[in-house]
Amino acid sequence: MGILSQLLIIFLLFGITVFCQYEADFEDEYENEIDNEYPSIFHHIPSVEYVFPYSTISTECAKECFCPPTYPVAMYCDHRKLQTIPIIPSHIQQLYLQYNDIEALPLESFANATALKDMNLSHNKIKSHMIDSGVFTKLSNLVQLHLEYNQLEEVPSPLPRSLERLILGFNQISRLPSQAVEGLVNMTMLDLCNNYLDDSQLKGIHLSNMGNLMQINLCSNRLQSMPPELPDSLMYLSLENNSISFIPYNYFQKLPNLIALRMSYNNLEEVPYNAFNLPHLIELNLGHNKLKQVFYIPRTLQHLYIEDNDIEVMNITLMCPSMDALNFRHLTYIRVDQNKLTAPISTYAFFCFPHIRSIYYGEQKIPANQQTRLRTPVFRRYLTPEEFDEMEDDYQEQDQDHSLRGRDEDDDFDPYFY
Ligand SMILES: *[C@@H]1O[C@H](CO)[C@@H](O)[C@H](O)[C@H]1NC(C)=O
Ligand SMILES: *[C@@H]1O[C@H](CO)[C@@H](O)[C@H](O)[C@H]1NC(C)=O
Ligand SMILES: *[C@@H]1O[C@H](CO)[C@@H](O)[C@H](O)[C@H]1NC(C)=O
Ligand SMILES: *[C@@H]1O[C@H](CO)[C@@H](O)[C@H](O)[C@H]1NC(C)=O
Ligand SMILES: *[C@@H]1O[C@H](CO)[C@@H](O)[C@H](O)[C@H]1NC(C)=O
Repeated sequence: MGILSQLLIIFLLFGITVFCQYEADFEDEYENEIDNEYPSIFHHIPSVEYVFPYSTISTECAKECFCPPTYPVAMYCDHRKLQTIPIIPSHIQQLYLQYNDIEALPLESFANATALKDMNLSHNKIKSHMIDSGVFTKLSNLVQLHLEYNQLEEVPSPLPRSLERLILGFNQISRLPSQAVEGLVNMTMLDLCNNYLDDSQLKGIHLSNMGNLMQINLCSNRLQSMPPELPDSLMYLSLENNSISFIPYNYFQKLPNLIALRMSYNNLEEVPYNAFNLPHLIELNLGHNKLKQVFYIPRTLQHLYIEDNDIEVMNITLMCPSMDALNFRHLTYIRVDQNKLTAPISTYAFFCFPHIRSIYYGEQKIPANQQTRLRTPVFRRYLTPEEFDEMEDDYQEQDQDHSLRGRDEDDDFDPYFY
């Protein structure tokens, strides 16, 4: 074997190692920081594919940064107390600038950065008025942009139309200019959690133009109503920790592809009975609201979280008005602690929801002197020997966890959505 081809193999091996590390880091971030209550389908961001230009490897690298000789399309400048962005060489595709003290995004740093696909600017001090206008427009290959944990007051614009994932959580964004997002036809994931957005900013914004959008996160903002005009491609909608008190009748009919809906920590007192009758819904979280009544449970739903509401009766007639022996409902888990239940759900539920594995009743909000207290904190269905075999490994690992945290990491639950 010639020296050249041996070198090529070494290159390939190293390239793959670097790439895997990068992926692992990426997932960790999402599991630890953003939402560790759920193991699930939200926040799984797929990685960007990089073209490795073997023939024309440039070793140019900003002096403040590190470009791995084996993977020279990446430039690592993170955790370096940088106050300004270095000049970005034109062959760089991945740029890591997280955890610095950068305040500004000047045009000249990006003048030649046309190959950039993935840029991480999170955990800096970037301010909206210090972003040069047009700084992103040349980045016509940019697919993923991390800007979380900065000091942005508005969504930057214009952004390149190639963008697929934009993460803007933990800023102070109170303005969403309509031109900022409307042209982004390839967007699949938009994260705006933990900002200062209110209803007025979403009015008149045609998010429905993002015809490929699969996930939008608007948690911990100041919304009082449901966002208007979401695209019907949407699969994951996160609205928890706002002040939403009302879901319009038929609101979700425009979102037939929803798989997961999170609306915990809002002000819902009631929801339209059929609101969640969607063909693909798997996860529904309405915990920490003020609901008094249960609602229709769609056939596909697997996980229902309605803890910390004001529900007095789990009325199975409402949840399951009819039963179809050939087409069972898929519900496996209900979390219903911190309500006002005095009795467990009727056993009829197990005909209607034959896949139920556990119901977490926990503590109920019943005055201590009241006599009718619910005594079963966790209901767990006895499994048939076949089911037991199927799940054995899983239970050995997770059983204790389940009771402690009162939730179910269900193996039926597909954690990946791409
Ligand atoms: C982006 O920065 C965050 C820190 O905010 C880090 O945890 C993550 O690994 C980075 N993502 C990528 C793709 O490098
Ligand atoms: C951009 O690239 C051109 C041509 O390679 C070079 O002359 C110029 O100095 C570069 N600009 C910056 C800001 O590095
Ligand atoms: C959107 O994505 C498609 C498929 O990856 C690509 O061909 C197209 O160029 C992208 N559009 C823009 C504006 O980048
Ligand atoms: C809810 O949002 C507020 C800010 O709007 C934030 O301070 C708080 O930590 C959030 N709570 C949860 C449970 O995320
Ligand atoms: C359950 O709801 C049905 C339909 O609204 C009602 O007729 C019935 O009385 C309710 N059952 C209980 C136990 O509240």
